[in-house]
Amino acid sequence: MDDHDEPVSMSAETPIGTLIERRLSRRGALQGLAAAGVAALAASPARAAGPSSFTFAEVPHVNDATHHVPEAYEVQVLIRWGDPVLPGAPAYDPRSQSAASQRLQFGYNNDFLGLHPLPMGSPAGDRFLMVVNHEYTNSNLMLPGIGEGREARLRADEAQVGIEMAAHGGSVIEIARDGGRWKVVEGSRYARRIDATTPMRIAGPAAGTARMKTSADPDGTRVLGMFNNCAGGETPWGTWLTCEENFYVYFAGEQDKMPDQALARRYALGRAPAYAWGKYVDRFDLAREPNEPNRFGWIVEIDPYDPQGTPVKRTALGRFAHEGCHHAVARDGRVVCYMGDDSRMEYVYKFVTARPWNPNDRAANRDLLDDGTLYAARFDADGTVTWLPLVHGQGPLTAENGFAGQADVVIHARRAADLLKATPMDRPEDVEANRVNGRVYIALTNNASRKPEQVDAANPRAKNENGHIIEIAPAGGDHAATTGRWDILLAAGDPSRDPGTKYHPETSANGWLSSPDNITFDNKGRLWIATDSGEVRGIADGVYACDLDGPGRALTRQFFAAPKGAEVCGPTLTPDNRTLFLSIQHPGEGKGSTFETPSTRWPDFRDGAPPRPSVIAITKKDGGTIGS
Ligand code: FEO
Ligand code: CA
Ligand code: CA
Ligand code: CA
Repeated sequence: MDDHDEPVSMSAETPIGTLIERRLSRRGALQGLAAAGVAALAASPARAAGPSSFTFAEVPHVNDATHHVPEAYEVQVLIRWGDPVLPGAPAYDPRSQSAASQRLQFGYNNDFLGLHPLPMGSPAGDRFLMVVNHEYTNSNLMLPGIGEGREARLRADEAQVGIEMAAHGGSVIEIARDGGRWKVVEGSRYARRIDATTPMRIAGPAAGTARMKTSADPDGTRVLGMFNNCAGGETPWGTWLTCEENFYVYFAGEQDKMPDQALARRYALGRAPAYAWGKYVDRFDLAREPNEPNRFGWIVEIDPYDPQGTPVKRTALGRFAHEGCHHAVARDGRVVCYMGDDSRMEYVYKFVTARPWNPNDRAANRDLLDDGTLYAARFDADGTVTWLPLVHGQGPLTAENGFAGQADVVIHARRAADLLKATPMDRPEDVEANRVNGRVYIALTNNASRKPEQVDAANPRAKNENGHIIEIAPAGGDHAATTGRWDILLAAGDPSRDPGTKYHPETSANGWLSSPDNITFDNKGRLWIATDSGEVRGIADGVYACDLDGPGRALTRQFFAAPKGAEVCGPTLTPDNRTLFLSIQHPGEGKGSTFETPSTRWPDFRDGAPPRPSVIAITKKDGGTIGS
């Protein structure tokens, strides 16, 4: 999402100047934590001219109405906002939308993409369930007549609010590849829309506790809907983890009528709302239902293979502005979920299940995410990362400090992490383990409000407008370890104008990037980075790829450029690496751009019609692997 609020963290790390130089040095970029990998890969045959292992022709930095891929690649538009998902969905008509039609159609602002093979458990082939988040709505682009700017959403009338609520949430679609072309399978029995009104269950330590109870749900165990679902992940047993991010912007009303003022402020509640929902739906009015916001900001688990299944909010994984939730499996089979809290000066977390997962009995894993340990990360200047347990009764997380039990710890995870002195970061987005090299990568998108006195080794730039990527090597190569080593892989920005950038020295004038957001890895363990910069450096957002080991480490190259105003999310490679799916989110977003006069009409380019957020499939014209 583009509009992240001012920092609300209570804590600030001691300023640290040491080691920053070393961590930003060229030697660091080339070696970092990867010295062993350099030796291993140096012996393999050269695949490309120069140090990079990638062979695609780099896409130039641009900023125009359409997308760009390298020569030898092509783009298919798989599904667009308003396309049918469920039976009976009317054809998309931008001038006669309704909540009823939107409930059957593909939602707005597709973000996370996940692939689940069909049949379940099969070696991945040409059929998948694709799960898609619909993060938020740009009402000034999707709805006619409501004008310009952030305030446009506040002008939505009751019927338009209904459309917005139906356009949030998620979709499950069945997709199939035939002759290298991807299509959505019509009439799939798995097709599903989830929105801001879908009934869900609340599970884990917060379920049924006092702060979760509302007049509509006196038990504190049932909630309607999810919204602002940004990135996500999947479990080893094939369920979808979808992450509620900036939930606070949907709640209106006077914060001073709420109990727990300080706690509410810590979650930015009661600031000017970004949506008109509170005018028409009581539960979004803080004065009427002060506990309703406690029921958002969670990881939601959904089984895409069970279209009637009830989504479950897994409260053990903590409540914050969740970006993604990517798993790794520890040595002993326990599942480790890495997560970022995407706000300025917020934390990186991981959750480790109490028990191993069972690969032979899917049902045995059903409630595995309800029991385990949540940790927040502290990054020390000596290169150590320490995972601090958020466990009631341990350290400062006691009744004296306002935590009556684990429910309070997870509902107010930010405050618990403050007391543990976790390290406030430059907006942690995706945090993901690389299955080839065993290390973990953290995309820190940017943080223009970090002050010089708040700089530390892991966040080494004040007014960080371009972000950076941190690499962690878990101790002993075990994701359950409570310590590890960290380093900065790259520091983004335009090397010709931004101070403190760090890339491979041969990164080209088109290869630098700004604001890393979602990341993924290919089968060779190489890194793919999607950006969300909001044109801060005048270039369109895009996708960049770099090696992590060998002589091309941190040599980013631009693979894709998005249409004007769009960010790129959800980069997902098919298991055979022959297709890269991307979410093109909020094309046309930006000042002065409206339904009537958008800055682009991508992807249809139809006169009088607005742009449409869409999922695209990128393939190589010769059918080869992406990036090669
Ligand atoms: Fe919704 Fe963190 O980007
Ligand atoms: Ca987004
Ligand atoms: Ca994101
Ligand atoms: Ca972002």
